[in-house]
Amino acid sequence: MISGDLFAASDLPSCLQIKPDVFLLQGFAVAQAEILLTHIRQIAAQSPFRNMQTPGGFYMSAAITNCGEFGWLSDQHGYRYSAIDPQRQQGWPPMPQCFYRLADHAARLAGFAQFHPDVCLINRYETGAKMGLHQDKDELDFSQPIVSVSLGRSALFQSIPLAHGDVIVWGGTARRHYHGVVKLTSADHPLTGDYRFNLTFRRAR
Ligand code: SIN
Ligand code: FE2
Repeated sequence: MISGDLFAASDLPSCLQIKPDVFLLQGFAVAQAEILLTHIRQIAAQSPFRNMQTPGGFYMSAAITNCGEFGWLSDQHGYRYSAIDPQRQQGWPPMPQCFYRLADHAARLAGFAQFHPDVCLINRYETGAKMGLHQDKDELDFSQPIVSVSLGRSALFQSIPLAHGDVIVWGGTARRHYHGVVKLTSADHPLTGDYRFNLTFRRAR
């Protein structure tokens, strides 16, 4: 019998359905983490991280920036997507090819073969930062999933612990589920120190 498999089954990325239409790809982005973090630094050098104001007048504890055709914004007038970064009065930095490929690959493994993200929202959390319960509902087409990549310090996303390199994909019946991030308390990470970064890929328009 010839056993010429190039890859053992265990080398295939694992994609675990943890709830209906919610998929966890543990460690999926670990091998690319350093290059992703380098891109995040370059993006932030153009469109800096900032703590945005909410319509209620508070400031978000996570600092955010974006890359791609559109960026997600919050201010006293509400939440929306915009092709212009109001801070620099021009477009957001382009989405790096490797970001797009990572999101596309993860979405495919989760069964969403036609994901075409035009936004990558980048959240940066430090000790004490959190993300309150919310729905991602400012997008036009809810048949497109959300792909979320965690880098650096771990965090609890609802009841799901997300570690460095973990990717979550949700769509379909879970697309409008409420989600949030519990206040960060865990220890530093060798690549990001005090920070946790999260990339969320969306199709806004
Ligand atoms: C988000 O829902 O926008 C962020 C989720 C996360 O940081 O894991
Ligand atoms: Fe969200």
